[in-house]
Amino acid sequence: MKIVSANWKMNGSLEGTRNYFEYLSSKKIDKDKRLIFCIPYVFLQEAVHLTKYIPNLEIFSQNVHHEDSGSFTGEISASMLKSIGVNGALVGHSERRNTESSDIINKKIKSLLRYNLKTILCIGESKNEDPKKVIINQISESLKDIKSLHNIIFAYEPVWSIGSDSAADISHIKNISDIVSDYCHKKYDSCPEIIYGGSVNETNFNEILLQEDLSGILIGRFSLDIYKFSRFICSEKF
Ligand code: PGA
Repeated sequence: MKIVSANWKMNGSLEGTRNYFEYLSSKKIDKDKRLIFCIPYVFLQEAVHLTKYIPNLEIFSQNVHHEDSGSFTGEISASMLKSIGVNGALVGHSERRNTESSDIINKKIKSLLRYNLKTILCIGESKNEDPKKVIINQISESLKDIKSLHNIIFAYEPVWSIGSDSAADISHIKNISDIVSDYCHKKYDSCPEIIYGGSVNETNFNEILLQEDLSGILIGRFSLDIYKFSRFICSEKF
């Protein structure tokens, strides 16, 4: 089953969240798609409630704090996410990496795993960086002392592509997914789930999603308009 994940970033409102998921609930979602919505903290509980009966749909946060509880003003922990029925969190997005070290990202993933929550771990190079070197470093540091890839999805998101209207070439994506797969086979003896993100839109959605080496896609801007987005994830109109 292909993963189609959406990252709303810092967009939306409570009313908009209701309209979005109520509209989606009225549609028939493709059976071959696993949907993951990474949405702002304040809308999580409502989204969990509204999507309870939609099969293959998961609600993720866009971040998590690495400690379970304590004096961390303004932070949200994995145990809090678990308590409201959230399924996982997006971790290490490039828009957050400026202020987050790989060590912190590693602690966040461990904290999600402790609560049996899932992780989408974002990895990707900036322009002029060596993708292989950056990606292997990011994976090995972020997964330090983590023994299995269970509940971990890699989102390959080249930083230069995010928000740019220019997705990476299929050959580049394939090359990176081979690098990640080789690394994971050697280190974990398992096959990683790898999704691609960065300027996925209506023109390249199907081509990227259909790539055999990929488990799916991560979509930013194009996921915000549920009327357009739903045409790609729902098979029929009611
Ligand atoms: P974009 O964002 O689809 O708007 O490029 C993707 C992301 O940052 O996850």
